[in-house]
Amino acid sequence: MSVESAVRAVTTYRLTEMKQRGEKIAMLTSYDYSMAKIVDAAGVDVILVGDSAANVMAGYETTLPITLDMMIYHARSVVRAVNRALVVVDLPFGTYQGNSKVALDSAIRIMKETEADAVKLEGGEEILESVQRILSAGIPVMGHLGLTPQSIHKFGTYAVRAQEVAEAEKLVHDAHLLNETGCFAVVLEKIPAALAARVTAELSIPTIGIGAGGATDGQVLVIHDMLGINKGFSPRFLRRYADLHALMTGAVSQYVGDVKSRNFPNEKEQY
Ligand code: KIV
Repeated sequence: MSVESAVRAVTTYRLTEMKQRGEKIAMLTSYDYSMAKIVDAAGVDVILVGDSAANVMAGYETTLPITLDMMIYHARSVVRAVNRALVVVDLPFGTYQGNSKVALDSAIRIMKETEADAVKLEGGEEILESVQRILSAGIPVMGHLGLTPQSIHKFGTYAVRAQEVAEAEKLVHDAHLLNETGCFAVVLEKIPAALAARVTAELSIPTIGIGAGGATDGQVLVIHDMLGINKGFSPRFLRRYADLHALMTGAVSQYVGDVKSRNFPNEKEQY
C-alpha cells in the first residue's frame, strides 16, 4: 500500500466525531492544483473551493459574478490534488436560490463533473427547500450563516452580522433548521463570539467559524488572506501566517533585475 492510500480520508461522519470528542476542525480555501496539494499535505481537514475565487482568483469586487462553470474548473483542479481532506464546493450566486430543481441540477453538476465531496450554500429558511432537495439526492450540504457575501447588496456592508436581537434569533433558528434538515456542518461568518458559542453548544453538527470567535468547532480562512498574498485586507479576525506579498514581490523584482543585468541565466543554467 502506498503512503498516500494509507492516509485516512476525512468524511462528513468523521467531522461529527471530531465535534463529539472536542477535536478542532481546520478548514482553508483552495482554488487550484498546486495550492491544494500543499494545503492537503499540511494536514487541513476540509478544503473549501469557495466562491471567494471570484475575488482572489478573478479580481471581482464581490462573489456574485462567478459562474457554475468557473467553480467547476476550480474544483476539478483542487480535487485532482487532494488525498486526505474533505473537498467542499460553493454553489455560486444564482444557482440555487428560489428554485430547488435548479439547485439540485447545480449540485449534481458539481458532484459529477468535479468529484468533490459536498456543496455549500448560503442562507437559512429561505433556501431550505433547495437544501432538502439536494440532500434527498444523497449530496452532503454545508450551510453558511451570518455574513453571507452573496447577499452583500442586501446588507450594504461587510460589517459584523447578528448584533441585534432579532437577527441573532433568526440566525439561531436557521442554524437549528439546517441541523434538523441534515446539513453536516455550518459556517458562521463574522458574528459575535458569544452567539457563535451558543449555536455551537446547541447544534449536534460542527460549526466552522470565520470571525466568529474561538468556541466554534472549527475555523476557516481564505488561503490568500492567511498567507498575506493580498495587501490591504486586514479585518480583526484575520491572522497572517506569512507575508507572501513581500516575499513574492522581492523574488520577482530580483528576477527582473537578473534578466536585465544579464545575470540570469548563467553558464550552469544553460545547455
Ligand atoms: O467563499 C469562501 O471563501 C467562503 C469562506 C469565507 C467561508 O465562503
